[in-house]
Amino acid sequence: MAHSKQVDSSEIIHMLEAAGQGYLSGQTLAEALGVSRTAIWKQVQGLKSEGYEIVSVTNRGYKLMRKADPLSVEAIREGLETEALGCALFYFDSVDSTQAIAKEKAPISPHGTVVVANKQTNGKGRLGRSWHSPHGLGVYMSLIVKPNISPAQSPQLTLLTAIAVVDTLAKFGVDAGIKWPNDCLVAGKKISGVLTEMAADADQIQHVIIGVGLNVNHSAHDFTAEITPIVTSMKMSLGLENATMIPRSEVIQVFLLEWEKLFALYLREGFAPIKEKWELRSNIVGRNIKVTMMKRELYGVAIGVTEAGALLVKDSQERVEAVFSGDIQFL
Ligand code: BTN
Repeated sequence: MAHSKQVDSSEIIHMLEAAGQGYLSGQTLAEALGVSRTAIWKQVQGLKSEGYEIVSVTNRGYKLMRKADPLSVEAIREGLETEALGCALFYFDSVDSTQAIAKEKAPISPHGTVVVANKQTNGKGRLGRSWHSPHGLGVYMSLIVKPNISPAQSPQLTLLTAIAVVDTLAKFGVDAGIKWPNDCLVAGKKISGVLTEMAADADQIQHVIIGVGLNVNHSAHDFTAEITPIVTSMKMSLGLENATMIPRSEVIQVFLLEWEKLFALYLREGFAPIKEKWELRSNIVGRNIKVTMMKRELYGVAIGVTEAGALLVKDSQERVEAVFSGDIQFL
């Protein structure tokens, strides 16, 4: 009674994977697994809804384009080694922006609460830009932190976060650097960005929301045509096969642990060690740059960052200026 047998979808994936770039017909799968072609078709639909990308072509059959990388609170928790960060954890399949959710939750959430989404429909970038956040491919995450520091010190947390991203990438074999203030680049292409937003009284921070966007399993065609030339992902930088997926839950676990360790160092020893680490990982110190600010441009050599997170630029007259906000270009 072949038709009544239950088919295990992992067996279908296994066979499609073994077929590599080739197609497997519904008939071949059905015969090998002792079920009907309709049963195979149904399982394939189920796999697609879980995030697997499987194409079906008439007369050729099925081909696995990309595996799914399921994300959930359980997957992130399992193997999370932090003490406090992520203990309160929210996961959504789709949100407009994790920043917006984190802002809503911040007043009633403990320090270290983390909001993660599988997709953002309105991901926010710095300077009013958007953050491309397709389903199932990236890490889109906001941390709610309540540090006992002055509002003027909050940019230091942005720099600290960029270090945590670069160190996380290094653990996965991706060699990234930081471009001031908060971009992480691999071979000149953007892989991650950090957006820090703060709620504060005159001299006291209520909370800081640190948003991290990291391109993990994107292939070039997953980005819009406009940004394709200037962005990359972990998978692209590692040159991984299309079907292979880097588990985002592990990326998140490593990042949260790195962030917590850096934050502990920051609380213990202040900004000095963070500044040192940032300067080591930034590909800017000593480089000739152009800074585009709201009203003017500045040319010079980047010489480091200040306690306030500003970039120090020395111009041709040897004058040093601290830049607080702007976009830089290497010359
Ligand atoms: C930038 O480089 O401009 C910063 C990008 C920050 C994107 C992240 S994704 C998670 C969080 N939610 C958002 O809407 N934005 C940040």
